[in-house]
Amino acid sequence: MARHKMQVVVLISGSGSNLQALIDRAQADLPIRIRAVISNEPDAFGLERTRNAGIPTRLLNHRDYPSREAYDAALGALIDEFDPGLVILAGFMRILTPAFVARFRGRLLNIHPSLLPKFRGLHTHQRVLAAGETLHGASVHFVTEELDGGPVVLQAKVPVEPGDDPEGLAARVLCQEHRIYPQVVHWFAQGRLRLDATGRPRLDGKPLPQPSENQADALPSWLSVPLPAVATS
Ligand code: GAR
Repeated sequence: MARHKMQVVVLISGSGSNLQALIDRAQADLPIRIRAVISNEPDAFGLERTRNAGIPTRLLNHRDYPSREAYDAALGALIDEFDPGLVILAGFMRILTPAFVARFRGRLLNIHPSLLPKFRGLHTHQRVLAAGETLHGASVHFVTEELDGGPVVLQAKVPVEPGDDPEGLAARVLCQEHRIYPQVVHWFAQGRLRLDATGRPRLDGKPLPQPSENQADALPSWLSVPLPAVATS
């Protein structure tokens, strides 16, 4: 008998390499069915990846809407057509309205290319280098009204090497993103991960510790979770 698969919708704006990691894993061991991929950008390469995988695409161009609120209302309605148990932001480069976040509360995940709570916002790789940081990485978190401020589920750390440039550093971070995002989606799809009523993420019922700026160099306990090796593409 077929395993139950969680229905998911993925939102993208660009290359879609995190999406590709999810597609690849969904074809292997990840118990999800990607019902649709929605892009706000007509030229997003991720749309081509989606079509190649035989998954429905939808384009919802924000330039066609008079306001952020109008766009997010239309986006929410489009997502609801697929009745997903989980909405995955995979390089979706839009600031979301509180109404949108509330609509999908507890089933909205994002990946951000920094060790949150450090370096929220854009251009994280350049900013990490400019700040002289020795450690960088990526974070998967539940989305809240606060931009890049939702509770963290899993992080991967990437050492900054002497002579790094933003592109090389970004590529190494992206490799780690492709490992941790499918892992978090796997936990959620298995029903092991949830956001509790107080807004704290729990894995197997246990609250996940939250990283803080001054603990960024300590190894968080959840990094000891063994991650399966994933081929990146
Ligand atoms: C990824 O690095 C992701 O963490 C970042 O955009 C990139 C998308 O790459 N997301 C954000 O910066 C969101 N604030 P991809 O399209 O190849 O997955």
